[in-house]
Amino acid sequence: MTLQLRVYVPPHPLIKHWLAVARDAGTPSVLFRSAMTELGRWLTYEAAREWLPTQETTVQSPLDSCPATLIDPTVPVAVVPILRAGLGLLEGAQTVLPLASIYHLGLVRDEETLQPLCYLNKLPKKFQSQTRVLVTDPMLATGGSIMAAMAELTQRGVDPTQVRIISVVAAPPALQKLNDAYPGLIVYTATIDQMVNDRGFIVPGLGDAGDRIFGT
Ligand code: PRP
Repeated sequence: MTLQLRVYVPPHPLIKHWLAVARDAGTPSVLFRSAMTELGRWLTYEAAREWLPTQETTVQSPLDSCPATLIDPTVPVAVVPILRAGLGLLEGAQTVLPLASIYHLGLVRDEETLQPLCYLNKLPKKFQSQTRVLVTDPMLATGGSIMAAMAELTQRGVDPTQVRIISVVAAPPALQKLNDAYPGLIVYTATIDQMVNDRGFIVPGLGDAGDRIFGT
């Protein structure tokens, strides 16, 4: 069986709505942040399907005992926001995964070369086996940043098939690189845009998400 990168664009009205708000150049930072929070929430909800480990048990209702399914508390869940823009999706992700550990990874692209530079790495030396990892970054453009993040994770024992990436706009160059390096990986994104321009911006995209989130 050949594994292939799977990219899901959930056909959900709330995701479409908040994507439209985020794309609109007239949306002020305060509303853009809300759009990121909502997208983080609903994309994480979608990504949790067949990813969060569960265990079968029995509960006693007021009337009778019945079979039940609970989240397995023994399997660690981690969220890795790629700074800065990935922080915009974090608050919404945390409403869905309130017990997850948060490991910040600060990456910034050199404006000339578009190569990512790591300026903060709070990842643990080693992740426990089977750890579920959610990576948040609203933009997957040339793919340099997400590939750097995936390299950091896999070097620390993360199984790529246990990773879910949530993004808002994903572009073909990034998806192609992920597919070539990590078959079996799964991405949830609000949309796939068709191109990256020569300055490394996704078109039509949503501009610079980090600047729009933080008003810089
Ligand atoms: C943006 C974005 C991604 C990256 C995508 O971050 O948030 O992390 O670029 O581009 P790539 O796929 O070509 O690597 P940026 O470097 O602008 O930093 P910021 O989030 O701090 O604004």
